[in-house]
Parts: sequence; C-alpha cells; structure tokens
Amino acid sequence: MAETHSQAPEREMLEISFQLNGEPTTVRVAATDRLLDTLRYQLALPGTKEGCGEGECGACTVLMDGLPVNSCLIPTYQVRGHRIETIESIPGDELASLHASGTTQCGACTPGVVMTARFLAEQPELLGTFTVRELMAGNLCRCTGYDGIVDGVEAMVAEKTAPKGEPPCAS
Ligand code: FES
Ligand code: FES
Repeated sequence: MAETHSQAPEREMLEISFQLNGEPTTVRVAATDRLLDTLRYQLALPGTKEGCGEGECGACTVLMDGLPVNSCLIPTYQVRGHRIETIESIPGDELASLHASGTTQCGACTPGVVMTARFLAEQPELLGTFTVRELMAGNLCRCTGYDGIVDGVEAMVAEKTAPKGEPPCAS
C-alpha cells in the first residue's frame, strides 16, 4: 500500500513596507502575524511588551500614525504604508524625565504607558475635556497604582506645552 504523507500547507507570505521609528522598513509576514510579534521577534525590538494578548491591558501600545494602538491586535500586514513608533524611539532624556516623575514603574506596563503619554504630550488639548486618568484608562497597572503615572504624564505634558524661550521667573 502506498504511503501517504500529509503536509502542512505552506503559509503565504506578504512583503510589506512601512516606517518604523523613522526608518523605512520591509518585512515578510504571514497574514496572521501580529505586529507585536513582528516587532519583538523579527525586528529585534523587544521593548514592546505582551500582557494580556487580548487588547485589554495596553502593555503592547505603540503609536500608529501618531495614535496609540494595541499591537497585539494588529495584523502586521495592516501597517503597510503607515508610520509606527515604539518605545525604542523615545529619546533617553525624555525617558529620564518620566522616570524622575514616577511614570516608569515596572517593565511590563511602562513601555505602553510611555507611548500613551507621548501621544498625550502631542495632543494636550485632550486634557481640556478628559482627565489624565481617563485618557490613560487603556493602560492597566496590576500592582503599584496610578499616582506616579498620572504625575509623570502631567509633568510631561506641562513640559511639552511650556512656552519656549521665556526667561526663568525672577524670584
Ligand atoms: Fe496587548 Fe494587553 S498585550 S493589550
Ligand atoms: Fe507595571 Fe503595575 S503593572 S507597575
């Protein structure tokens, strides 16, 4: 009797190009590959973290065309032609000032928190309608609490929106 071999169907691969942290980037991915995994395992950017994997915790937040998105929910092929920014794009001095203000808590939530904070710093007008706590509601902390995060985000927004070039107040 002839022996039959069942073979797993070959995954169709898609080549897509997008801008990643300011650099043109091309990857080959399957239709089901998540952006989170492509960033971490194919592009060697492990700063973006996985928490729930279900769009609930915000640990995997990156910016897509300037807006925070959960990279665990985005198929990589959908970023074709778009602009993606990850925690690796944040300048060291900005991270240092967030650290000093208490925003950077544990390694699991911090990358996502920082990316949402970066978005808020670019959209300070949102704070006229919503509180920082409301705007950060998509980034969960399971341990330490939110006071440090709120203080740091408020400081970051204040720093970004402060008038430039004004002489320091005389005392
Ligand atoms: Fe993506 Fe939790 S890992 S939202
Ligand atoms: Fe990171 Fe709570 S989950 S400090």
